[in-house]
Amino acid sequence: MTTLPILSATSEGVVTSRRSPVRVIASLIRNPLDALPPQIYDHKLVYTEFGNQVRLHLMDPELIHEALVKNAAALSKGEEVRRALGPALGQGLLTSDGAHWKWQRQSVASGFQWEKLRGFLPAMIAAAERRRDAWQVGDIMDIGHEMMRTTFDIIVETMMSGRERIDVGRVEQSVTDYLEPTGWMFALGLLKAPEWVPYPGKGKASRAVEYLRSAMADMINERRTSGEERADLVSMLLSAKDPETGREMSDEQIIDNLLTFISAGHETTALGLAWTLHLLARHPNIEKKMLDEFDRVVGEGSVMPEHIEQLTYTKQVFNESMRLYPPAPVITRTAEEDFVLSQHRIKAGTVLLVPIHAVHRHRLIWEEPEKFDPEHFAPDAVKNRHRYAFMPFGAGPRICIGSAFATMEAVAILAVLAKRFRLRNKSETVPEPLMRITLRPKEKLMMRVESRG
Ligand code: HEM
Repeated sequence: MTTLPILSATSEGVVTSRRSPVRVIASLIRNPLDALPPQIYDHKLVYTEFGNQVRLHLMDPELIHEALVKNAAALSKGEEVRRALGPALGQGLLTSDGAHWKWQRQSVASGFQWEKLRGFLPAMIAAAERRRDAWQVGDIMDIGHEMMRTTFDIIVETMMSGRERIDVGRVEQSVTDYLEPTGWMFALGLLKAPEWVPYPGKGKASRAVEYLRSAMADMINERRTSGEERADLVSMLLSAKDPETGREMSDEQIIDNLLTFISAGHETTALGLAWTLHLLARHPNIEKKMLDEFDRVVGEGSVMPEHIEQLTYTKQVFNESMRLYPPAPVITRTAEEDFVLSQHRIKAGTVLLVPIHAVHRHRLIWEEPEKFDPEHFAPDAVKNRHRYAFMPFGAGPRICIGSAFATMEAVAILAVLAKRFRLRNKSETVPEPLMRITLRPKEKLMMRVESRG
């Protein structure tokens, strides 16, 4: 048997990026997307070292498959995720590992089966119609905010049976306040600074978490005292039992998960939709093709649940927009044990990064990677490409549990809104993406509502 080389800066096929630590820290704070090595858009495997920490960037779909799917058991979410998201999401589904992750995933899996998801379509369409009916020709609005409101209504109504008890505006502001200083969290984590070290925005972020967790606690108390039985996520979490210990979830664990679903389940889809509407306004020929599909499938009447699956071009448009602006732009893991990746031995402690943003714009994978072209998702194009060349929802056992929910929801919202109104960008400037765990536009995306005529 041949001995595999331990992956190092000089290993074959590995490109090393050396940048000044000061610059890396400064860009992490400003915009973590800029802190990624620039070589990731042209090379398959990029190696960096910071202090004693080895960081490996995987852009090759085959290596991504090997790491996130085949070797998933050797990987954990790691210190970076725990430090950035732990204060808000505790040990919920997104942030936990091992057996604790597994039983939580099994406890909620039945809520995401296809039939169950189809049952959510009327609520998705109704939420989009309420938003549409609140708009008037001539309005100028922040489309990101409008989409957050719409997807928030949907997640609360479908997963928590009711939006009347939650202050939507306050939750939205709290999520923003929490995410705003995450660049600092990454930077201080990389410097191994203790967690008590203060940074700008830390107080605001702590108050945001306090509010969010207390709002979730109120929801649980209300459900417990009313004794109401509903077939939703709250009931699933209240009745979940760990198969190994027989233990039920504590209130803290239920709060962890409710907050996980509320935040992971609305912000990402809203950002995907906001970027899509912005791109459609810049590409009227593609918008026209989507409208032709609405004419063919929906006709003169209202969008109905049975139309959604048939709106295949609209889905291509949403996918293409997530290719260029993946709402979750980077996946991080830490190797908990040594493992083999292609011809390299990866040492325990190595941090693996899958920069989805770079995979989706990679010059060895995509022709004209910067061009917005939904034909990238025509059935033949998809068939001829590696499965993990496009991975907005991740890969392997930790793949997004809400991927089908999000896609269905996005297509329904696009159809309801774009059928009635033409949205146009107020500014011609191409917005800069800013990574705050999710991929937000640096400036608000302001759009004008026009009549379809
Ligand atoms: C366009 C919308 C969405 C995008 C791009 C997205 C993206 C992702 C990604 C990339 C991951 C994997 C993270 C990792 O491997 O470290 C993930 C996990 C997750 N997502 Fe989503 N997501 C979206 C919508 C949703 C929705 C609608 C829900 C809930 C209804 C949801 C709930 C979750 C949860 C709970 C996890 C953790 C799963 C686990 O670790 O088992 N997401 N998402």
